[in-house]
Amino acid sequence: MSKGSTITAAVALGAALLAVPAIAVSVGAVRVGGLTGDPAHGGVVFHQCQTCHVITAGQNRIGPSLHAVVGRRSGMIANFAYSAANKKSGVVWTEPVLFKYLENPRGFMPGTTMSFVGLKKPQDRADVIAYLKTAAK
Ligand code: HEC
Repeated sequence: MSKGSTITAAVALGAALLAVPAIAVSVGAVRVGGLTGDPAHGGVVFHQCQTCHVITAGQNRIGPSLHAVVGRRSGMIANFAYSAANKKSGVVWTEPVLFKYLENPRGFMPGTTMSFVGLKKPQDRADVIAYLKTAAK
């Protein structure tokens, strides 16, 4: 493949990635990992996070508030004592990144203080991400 066609392909891919969330948002769902996330079932999955997190702005528990976390850089809640692993990770919590992280948080981010085993079912991860997106504003 020539350099020119690689760039064209990359631009086309970028446009496709931008277009997908726009379509998904219009039906109130999220496309991630090849799946459509269902925010209603994501609320049920979120029960597993609730000992440590709420999606209300400004409320930290054992973990930081997850209000508007989708699209946010890691470690941004000012009054939460993050681990160095989280704070220095340079990670942005986009849908695909959350999809990987939530499968195995400590595998994805060694040294994180989030002691959660992970969501093994891809559909549960897509659903909980869709739920988190409902607290975007
Ligand atoms: C046992 C408590 C616990 C559970 C359960 C838990 N978390 Fe966490 N979570 C934490 C802690 C503590 C941190 C901060 C980690 C650090 O600083 O290394 C965190 C951090 C996060 C972050 C990064 C936030 C940021 O601002 O960088 C996300 C996203 C997240 N958790 C999502 C979830 C989701 C979604 C679930 C449920 C599927 C979940 N967590 C379950 C304790 C928990």
